[in-house]
Amino acid sequence: MRTLSITTALVCLALLSSVNAEEKLSMSDADKAMYAELLENNPAEMEVGEGEALFNSLIGTAAYAKMLGVKEKDLPKTIAGFPRVVKAAGKVVTLSQSLQMALADQGKPVSKLESPEIVKMSAYVKSLANGQKTAIDVKANPQMKEMMALGAQVFEERRGGRGLSCNNCHSADIVGQRLRMQPLPDLGAKVTAAAGTWPAYRMTQGQMVTLDKRMQQCMENALLAKIPLGSREMVALEVYVTNKTKGNAIQIPGLKR
Ligand code: HEC
Repeated sequence: MRTLSITTALVCLALLSSVNAEEKLSMSDADKAMYAELLENNPAEMEVGEGEALFNSLIGTAAYAKMLGVKEKDLPKTIAGFPRVVKAAGKVVTLSQSLQMALADQGKPVSKLESPEIVKMSAYVKSLANGQKTAIDVKANPQMKEMMALGAQVFEERRGGRGLSCNNCHSADIVGQRLRMQPLPDLGAKVTAAAGTWPAYRMTQGQMVTLDKRMQQCMENALLAKIPLGSREMVALEVYVTNKTKGNAIQIPGLKR
């Protein structure tokens, strides 16, 4: 069944006027050349390096593993399975939230999810699992099952003035079609590999962005009410989107348009 109705398509076209010029352009030849160059030398590598220094001075792998209740040598495998239930939290948390927990555990000030410290540290910690396959287990326990169901619901729910849902632009039957000249990405495709490639450097923004923040940017562009970072709904959405690309290799930092 087609989920993109004519009305929705018109609504999508109406969005043309509400985005900045840069976002309207698909990749030009110059952008493609820049992309190829940045693939060799991703500017976000520097931020990952800063994240490493921050993480080692504020938390450290031993304390982080202890807080997660795993052996240090099992960290990469554990990291590849986020979002997951962390016993100390008693609920499903994202990798970034687990870093907030570790900071609190160390008696350090707890930075906000959108703070540069958490963004950089989460990229570094996720890079410890580079080469591993994303291994979220949405059937691991009742909490994961519940968050997966909530995530699917949020993904399909039409919200905001234009009545659009994530699914309107990202459902299997319309991916590859174009919106504002941008191909609609299949979040489950190997090339997109959403779960394994965020945090990523966004060329159009000149900065590193996390997956939850990227999803907020879609909400902004499509005029859906913005779901707050760290909320149950946002964590659920991350569970759902991550599960779409389960099994793809982790490559941090990613590089995106
Ligand atoms: C109006 C259409 C539209 C809606 C609605 C929309 N998106 Fe998107 N989304 C896009 C487009 C177009 C891109 C790719 C843009 C680009 O190339 O940078 C994208 C990119 C993404 C990406 C990054 C993919 C990757 O890894 O490169 C994620 C994740 C995502 N969307 C999730 C969501 C979620 C979650 C929602 C619902 C809250 C949503 N989107 C709603 C059009 C939409």
